[in-house]
Amino acid sequence: MSRRVTISTLNAMKAEREKFVMMTAYDATFSRLISEAGAETILVGDSLGMVLQGHDTTIPVTISDMAYHTRCVCRGSPNSLIVADMPFMSYDTTDKALESGMQLMQAGAQMVKLEGGVWLSESIHRLVERGIPVCAHLGLTPQSVNVFGGYRVQGRTPKEAKSILADAVEIQDAGASLLVLECIPAHLAADISSKLDIPTIGIGAGAGTDAQVLVLHDMLGLSEQPPKFVENFMEGETSVQAALRAFVQAVKTGAYPKEEHTYS
Ligand code: KIV
Repeated sequence: MSRRVTISTLNAMKAEREKFVMMTAYDATFSRLISEAGAETILVGDSLGMVLQGHDTTIPVTISDMAYHTRCVCRGSPNSLIVADMPFMSYDTTDKALESGMQLMQAGAQMVKLEGGVWLSESIHRLVERGIPVCAHLGLTPQSVNVFGGYRVQGRTPKEAKSILADAVEIQDAGASLLVLECIPAHLAADISSKLDIPTIGIGAGAGTDAQVLVLHDMLGLSEQPPKFVENFMEGETSVQAALRAFVQAVKTGAYPKEEHTYS
């Protein structure tokens, strides 16, 4: 019988300073391949709104889209810990967060992810209390792209950096198990990662986080205008399976991300 990665596995890896890997998946086949490549965690990202559905943002994605893709991904991977994104406006009140969390957990996820800081404390607390583990997401939170005025690096000013650190501490205290840090300066992500007990997962946040995540289509070189932090892992490989393994190995050995993938 296979053994699934749990939050205890990831906490132990953080304690041992062993990097772990997250990749996005939206279907059963890629879920299986990503698990076989050795990624400890899979994110059913609402990035599916952009890479599968062809939207400009993640905002049109619904909870039924997320539940459908979560069911597909869960059928493919008996080993990786599966985190499912709560889509835009599916957790703007605590009651809606509980209802949406229930749908994703019943679709097979082992954890849900939501974007935001201090304002989510009560919802995170209630979700965890009711048996729904939470991964939080700070920095460039794509569901707020219209507030940011574009996909911009966050946390560059001392005021913004202080606020992201305060959010991180608050969501840990509220009970979050994992934290994604997206598009923030490498020194800030490293500082947050060293101050928190829970594992951090970086995307465009430098090498100092406890894990790395990339959107599948970006790391396979399929996206038209990939952000600066993306490396095309298909380059030099002859199969998708080899590219997925190359990403896992690059994260674990510290070969990815490089200086050219980070922001200051
Ligand atoms: O939806 C997604 O794929 C994400 C990652 C960018 C972390 O949230």
